[in-house]
Amino acid sequence: MNQISRNWVVIGSLNDIPRQGARCVENGAMTIAVFRTHDDRIFAIEDKCPHRNGPLSQGIVHGDCVTCPLHNMVIHLATGRAQGADEGETVTFPVRLEGDIIHLGIDF
Ligand code: FES
Repeated sequence: MNQISRNWVVIGSLNDIPRQGARCVENGAMTIAVFRTHDDRIFAIEDKCPHRNGPLSQGIVHGDCVTCPLHNMVIHLATGRAQGADEGETVTFPVRLEGDIIHLGIDF
């Protein structure tokens, strides 16, 4: 039986990320963008648009979505899925807040 272990890593505090902004975390060769919404929810997704790998961390956050800065695809932060008529999905990661400390869950 395969068992996945989750490693929770402290990556900073809520105030390290501006509202409707993002901060990037490196995990090996992957860059993970950690987003903070206007109402202080936190989401983590790979910093790579499913269309042509645009840097989602540089996109515009609105509600619980981000608009890619390259060609305006809208990605849902909780699911990583493209919205509307677009198709595609990027990898999501679990995050949790303990007080204002952000923990990122990475499977290994
Ligand atoms: S790379 Fe994101 S919409 Fe094209």
